[in-house]
Amino acid sequence: MNSLQLLPESASTFANEWNWLFWLLVAICGIVATGIAVILIYWAIRYHRKRENELPPQIQGNNKMEAAWTLIPMFIFLGMFGWGSKIYFDMERPPNNARNVYVVGKQWMWKTQYATGQREINTLHVPVGEPVKLTMISQDVIHSFFVPAFRIKQDVLPDRYTAIWFQATKPGRYHLFCAEYCGTKHSGMIGWVYAMEPHDFQLWLERGGAEGSLASTGEKLFHQFGCSNCHQFDGQGRCPVLRDLFGRVVRIAGGQTVIADETYIRESILFPRAKIVEGFQAVMPTFDGQLTEEQVLALIAYIKAIGPAPGTQQPVSPGTVPRNYGAEKGIAGPEATSISGTKPGAR
Ligand code: CUA
Repeated sequence: MNSLQLLPESASTFANEWNWLFWLLVAICGIVATGIAVILIYWAIRYHRKRENELPPQIQGNNKMEAAWTLIPMFIFLGMFGWGSKIYFDMERPPNNARNVYVVGKQWMWKTQYATGQREINTLHVPVGEPVKLTMISQDVIHSFFVPAFRIKQDVLPDRYTAIWFQATKPGRYHLFCAEYCGTKHSGMIGWVYAMEPHDFQLWLERGGAEGSLASTGEKLFHQFGCSNCHQFDGQGRCPVLRDLFGRVVRIAGGQTVIADETYIRESILFPRAKIVEGFQAVMPTFDGQLTEEQVLALIAYIKAIGPAPGTQQPVSPGTVPRNYGAEKGIAGPEATSISGTKPGAR
């Protein structure tokens, strides 16, 4: 038998602070509960009724005591709230240099995809000492991605991207659970996260046998589903040009603007009529039900990776992937694609 373990292993940068907050809350609750119990028992004995007709003297209030028992707990609670919020905001804000991994939850498995093209089921490989951002969506019902050793838990919803990030601190194998009841085999929706030393992780990536980057998978889908017929890269099509779209502000019919993020692009693929780009007609068919969430993520990765038109290089805005990603691995990036030279109607 292992020795009694009160907390899961601590294997991410969040874990230490999380542990301290946890123990502080346990200590405050413990001290208050014990104090109340002791005083209750002591007073029950000390002041029990001694004579049949005994009446205690009436107390008319004590402002100092009332102020003390209002203000002291208030500052303790505000301190707990402040510290908890600080940790929460740290967890909600992925650093800009985080490595992107995409997670699709479905009854009853976790599917993971890397920007470099590797795909896994119920396993996630990550390097130690590097922030990793998970962008997650569910193919069916609500799931929840829970890695106790990293102290992260995030609901995974249908029709909406949620994100969580972490930085592993210790190589090892850690439990992954689904923490939201999602049907018969919810308890079997489990897996492992492997945190690896950076050079081991690099070897794993190279051995991973990916056929191409996620963006190149997206590019194939872009042609397969006929997107390229209309979204032509020379602006001759009837549909908006997708070059350099990701992260940009888009004006839509009615005068509003939206940021072209993952959520907007997914909506535009599945429900194209929801937001029509200003100056364009609602001619795009819906792809709802025709694409899996993994395919949608691949298309988004492709659109993210399409750089500006040649000769108009712009600085990379924060939060977007580098334009040349994949290039260092010799993967044909979107810049090397043939579509930019395609004549209208040639496909
Ligand atoms: Cu998925 Cu519980």
